[in-house]
Amino acid sequence: MKYIHNEKKIKNIFDKLAPYYDNNNKIISLGFDKFIKKDIIKYLNITCNSEVLDLCTGTGDIIEYILKMHNPKKIVGVDFSSSMLKLANKKLRNLNKFSSKIKLIKANVCFLPFKNETFDCVIISFGFRNIKNKIRIIKEIKRVLKSGGEFIHLDFGKTNIFIDFIFEFVVKYFLKFFYKLNSPYKYLLSSKKQFYKPSKLISIFKSKGFILEKRIDYLFGIISMQKYIKE
Ligand SMILES: C[S@@+](CC[C@H](N)C(=O)[O-])C[C@H]1O[C@@H](n2cnc3c(N)ncnc32)[C@H](O)[C@@H]1O
Repeated sequence: MKYIHNEKKIKNIFDKLAPYYDNNNKIISLGFDKFIKKDIIKYLNITCNSEVLDLCTGTGDIIEYILKMHNPKKIVGVDFSSSMLKLANKKLRNLNKFSSKIKLIKANVCFLPFKNETFDCVIISFGFRNIKNKIRIIKEIKRVLKSGGEFIHLDFGKTNIFIDFIFEFVVKYFLKFFYKLNSPYKYLLSSKKQFYKPSKLISIFKSKGFILEKRIDYLFGIISMQKYIKE
């Protein structure tokens, strides 16, 4: 399957996938998704005055974990899939003591509806890979992040033939068998194969004015996190 970079198709894929998304992640990652997402949040210096932005927020996991582990002033999630946002809303409403701090916005992350230098931290977890115009999104992240602000990117990392084979097997047969959905898994596999290696990603972010502060490779490098500071 050719890697789709048509925003409408990607949005449709996530709209369809939404009801299965959290469970799929648990299966594909053998439960490590939660551990990894919580771990990356430890590296953010969030205070009670921090305004945090979670791009491609999906079902709101990152927002949930940030609120449980830190005490920001405000946290905003942006995503263009109504179905994913609906689930995020349901999940986060249950954290009612925090609900006044949370804002979920339906928008394309390439056109962020925020003023320059609004946020202290920006996170994008398993989202950057899906964005067609990488330069545009990097510019948007830089624009809305305060000078000296923190940016975390989390996604698939290095490829490893053995791990990729297992991953492909689980995605192609196991998930397809259980959920009878075809296109999201084909999309996931092709987008993963064609995504940048972490070293390439780091050099792109560096060239756009971000300083690499930390890199962590999880699960033998299948998942990679990089934390940057805006110059
Ligand atoms: C793989 S999910 C990641 C969700 C969540 N961040 C996580 O770590 O579980 C990717 C999300 O990015 C959203 N997305 C993809 N391209 C987008 C765009 N251009 N603008 C806004 N959201 C986008 C999709 O709707 C989907 O919810």
